Amino acid sequence: MARHLITSALPYINGIKHLGNMVGSMLPADVYSRYLRQRGHDVLYICATDEHGTPAELAAKELGLPVDEFCAQAHDAQKAVYDGFALAFDYFGRSSSEQNVEITQHFARKLKENGFIEERAIRQVYSPADGRFLPDRYVEGTCPHCGYDKARGDQCENCTRVLDPTDLIEPRSAISGSTDLEVRETKHLFLLQSKLQHEVEAWVAAHEHQWPQLASSIARKWLTEGLHDRAITRDLDWGVPVPADTWPELAAEGKVFYVWFDAPIEYIGATKEWSDQDPENRDWKSWWFDVDTDVRYTEFMAKDNVPFHTVMFPATELGVREPWKKVDVVKAFNWLTYYGGKFSTSQKRGVFTDQALEVLPADYWRYFLIANAPESDDSSFTWEHFTATVNKDLADTLGNFVNRVLSFSRKRFGDEVPAGAAAGEAEAKLGEEIARLLAEYEEHMEALQFRKAAAALRALWSAGNSYLEEKAPWLEIKTDQEAAALTLRTAMNLIHLYAVVSEPFIPTSSAAMRGAFALEDDTATWVTPEEARSLTSIPAGTPFTVPPVLFAKLTEDDLEAYKERFGGQAE
Ligand code: 2FM
Ligand code: ZN
Repeated sequence: MARHLITSALPYINGIKHLGNMVGSMLPADVYSRYLRQRGHDVLYICATDEHGTPAELAAKELGLPVDEFCAQAHDAQKAVYDGFALAFDYFGRSSSEQNVEITQHFARKLKENGFIEERAIRQVYSPADGRFLPDRYVEGTCPHCGYDKARGDQCENCTRVLDPTDLIEPRSAISGSTDLEVRETKHLFLLQSKLQHEVEAWVAAHEHQWPQLASSIARKWLTEGLHDRAITRDLDWGVPVPADTWPELAAEGKVFYVWFDAPIEYIGATKEWSDQDPENRDWKSWWFDVDTDVRYTEFMAKDNVPFHTVMFPATELGVREPWKKVDVVKAFNWLTYYGGKFSTSQKRGVFTDQALEVLPADYWRYFLIANAPESDDSSFTWEHFTATVNKDLADTLGNFVNRVLSFSRKRFGDEVPAGAAAGEAEAKLGEEIARLLAEYEEHMEALQFRKAAAALRALWSAGNSYLEEKAPWLEIKTDQEAAALTLRTAMNLIHLYAVVSEPFIPTSSAAMRGAFALEDDTATWVTPEEARSLTSIPAGTPFTVPPVLFAKLTEDDLEAYKERFGGQAE
């Protein structure tokens, strides 16, 4: 048994996330956590809403709410959707928590003590009409590179270049629209990442062999470009305040830390939030402090987050000069597209997670998304592909097998698992096949190869169908009751095995499959190779019930209705 710390990138507080966000971080982290828990490991899966920064302030303003109230409501709304997706976080926190404030300030003090933070005066845009500095997205204007006239102070959406608010041509305030802007000098804290370049390089070199290629190539690219010193404070009302005991002047001016400084620290902050709820039984530090080899830490994220997690956050942790746990494995994802185009939160294009649950239960989505996760490349969501996959894999291969076997057995042999003849050659061959596929499934899960794991799971389901077709108990029963009973008992054992091993992907349906059998003691967390080979864990005489149809078959009309509602083609 090992200790596994798992985090998924913290979703921004503003807006309900789309399916692309879900498949690129939280869902695979949940599948992996569930798998490891079932294998008996000690797992802590932590996530939280990322609440600071200009997007939160702007979204609150749009709704006419105080930003703290907006964040509280938006956090609950996101949490409700994640519950709907059956994401089994050990804790889902908030980066605006007092725990995160405390740890972020501690990190900053230590970085200063160690010579990695210094104050520098910079020139920033000030708006007399708004009575404030305008950082990042608070300024809009024309991009100096491509001429796009709605470029934001932090980045041009059109040409993707990173900008500084003072780069914009004809700048205007995103709050009031005022063009009466000045550039004023103001002091900010800078994280001297350049001083940490060599240490970070050495650390990456020592760890990247454990990362999938996507993560290590992005980290390498950033290191080659060189680590630059970065401003880590902002002039905003909403954020972790700069501590007054260390920087009285900046604190008096109301400076707060930049969102990307405190967000990754919230992985630790949220663990403390979790621990503070039950301090007698939970110890947050035992997961994060001085546990270099005791805990295996895996992070899940989309590729745009990789630089922050492989280079910048490790630089921060290294500079603190305390033994905080650093990531062991970085699992990064490419983009899920919607008919080849971008899912877009701001343009409301694609399928959002709350809408997805209005259409169908979580298991349909969980299975489809992981089976088509954008691992080695971007992958495209289309309703055609989604409905075809649901029908073939979930409704036909798995759902139909379960219902067919249980209904037929009940009809012919009653409400208990029949005994039948002793296992023969077909069962031995099936057992070998199941054990082999199970080992394959485990290997892919452990390597975080989710598409391949899904393919192995699907192959397990298919093996049951082939066995059933081959034995054809509906024909056997005409001549040999005992033979038919053996086939059905073996198939019922497969159903129970499917319930156990499909749980990481489709937890609700798995519970229904498992619940079909009234076993005296069903504490089995995983299936051993011997159990897979012998397929006899469910003994004859076990009472069972037939669960309602597990997966509805989607019709042409359903497909048309989805396309009508969500739009079904490229932009
Ligand atoms: O890209 C994003 O959605 C960020 N909110 C991810 C933050 S991850 C972490 F570092 F907190
Ligand atoms: Zn541009």
